[in-house]
Amino acid sequence: MPTTAAKTARPADACVMVIFGGAGDLTKRKLAPSLYNLARQGLLSANFAIIGVAMNEYGDEEFRAALTDAVRQFGADFDAARWDVLRRNIRYVAGKFDDPAVYAKLRDRIAEAQKACGAPNTLFYLATPPQFFGVIAQQLGAAKLVADAEASGWTRIIIEKPFGRDLDSARLLNKQLLSAFDESQVYRIDHYLGKETVQNVLTFRFLNGIFEPIWNRRYVDHVQLVVAETLGVEGRGGYYDTSGALRDILQNHMFQLLCLVAMEPPLSLGAEDVRNEKVKVLHAIRRLSDEDILHSVVRGQYGAGTINGAEVPAYRAEPSVAPDSNTETYAATKLFIENWRWADVPFYLRTGKRLAKHDTEIVVQFRRVPLRLTAEDSGLQPNRLTIHIQPDERITLSFQAKRPGPVLQLVPVELQFAYNELEGDSAGTGYETLIYDCMTGDSMPFHRADMVEEAWKVVTPILDVWKALPPRDFPNYAAGSWGPESAEALIVNDGRRWVEPA
Ligand code: BG6
Repeated sequence: MPTTAAKTARPADACVMVIFGGAGDLTKRKLAPSLYNLARQGLLSANFAIIGVAMNEYGDEEFRAALTDAVRQFGADFDAARWDVLRRNIRYVAGKFDDPAVYAKLRDRIAEAQKACGAPNTLFYLATPPQFFGVIAQQLGAAKLVADAEASGWTRIIIEKPFGRDLDSARLLNKQLLSAFDESQVYRIDHYLGKETVQNVLTFRFLNGIFEPIWNRRYVDHVQLVVAETLGVEGRGGYYDTSGALRDILQNHMFQLLCLVAMEPPLSLGAEDVRNEKVKVLHAIRRLSDEDILHSVVRGQYGAGTINGAEVPAYRAEPSVAPDSNTETYAATKLFIENWRWADVPFYLRTGKRLAKHDTEIVVQFRRVPLRLTAEDSGLQPNRLTIHIQPDERITLSFQAKRPGPVLQLVPVELQFAYNELEGDSAGTGYETLIYDCMTGDSMPFHRADMVEEAWKVVTPILDVWKALPPRDFPNYAAGSWGPESAEALIVNDGRRWVEPA
């Protein structure tokens, strides 16, 4: 996270960036445009080179042409002269990720790139399907392409989620990564942590004095986190059908939001201070028994319905999804964080695809006033602080006001801060900040091995119970609705209700 103006002004360290999966969608849509955007903002080193590794039989020129198309399509303000500076330093290695000969070739190409652009550092980006993460890390280690953490030129690796499918596979992946790399060299990327409004949660809580005194069980009634998408699986049915909402969103993106809301003040905004506090939150989440899972976790899958006036098919009718799929496209749960700050305060989390509205928000609902002062206040709304992450980027604080007039009439009103009113460099693809942070050695907004494992400790028992008891009612919500009815019960039974996104 950029902590000072000075930090954002300095170009990242010179490096050779090796992108495994260089011919894939992520590289085209996000990585190449982000690198270009960073260069445009003066944040990329002039000594920078890219090497793509993938199975496509490209030569250097074909790969350059593919990245040029991608940057034209997805980058901001394409400027051919500026891109040409980057383009010259692009190379390509064709081959399979498990073939040692590829790594021998790669070593030569890294040496060549280092010589040409004078960059002593190497960044490996794994933009590949997850089954290759462990293999690539181990091959890099075996080929001695990983300088040790103390060496003068750094070596770092970025991997994309999913970081495992459950606790055992996450542990195995960590072991494979750490057999070749030191934890300080591993950057597990989460694009939610690159969102400006998510990064602002830390600023909001810990660089302002007035919220901290009320940010606890004495004043907070409950917290709601929602990640609602109107999108379906968008051609990613093959991946999604093996994943589901719990693995795809809740275990990683939502747990990170939860950490930011619930963590104790860190000693500094340094990577380890912040991540030490986050992991404590994950560790403090009350483990769910099988019984709890049946009562406090809801799963759903969308049937056909209407989104923004257009009819959309059921999940089971999406391409590459099994016609009898039991994969959940919706998950909601109630969690408790067992520490002094949050004991007995429920955290309600819900996420789903094909819901009524695209909206990500954090709602902190405060306790009601202790005493009714007039008959008018029977419908009194409790105070709420809402951090709208996207697509709206706002923070609102709701409270009661008196409507002008001779009789006391209450009306809920809001104080509001709109993020887009601030001037600054907007993030572009959302990957720029994170790539920049990695290139400057700030691992604060990245998952650490212990955080990943703690998160799986909460989620794996749910996956186990769900697997043992396949759902009998899928599909159980219509596309365009707010999810299954049982999700209402989850919160209504506690005398509360989901806050309808504004
Ligand atoms: C990704 C998930 O991590 O996040 C997708 O794999 C999901 O399924 C996406 O659509 C949501 O990201 P955003 O930034 O659009 O909220």
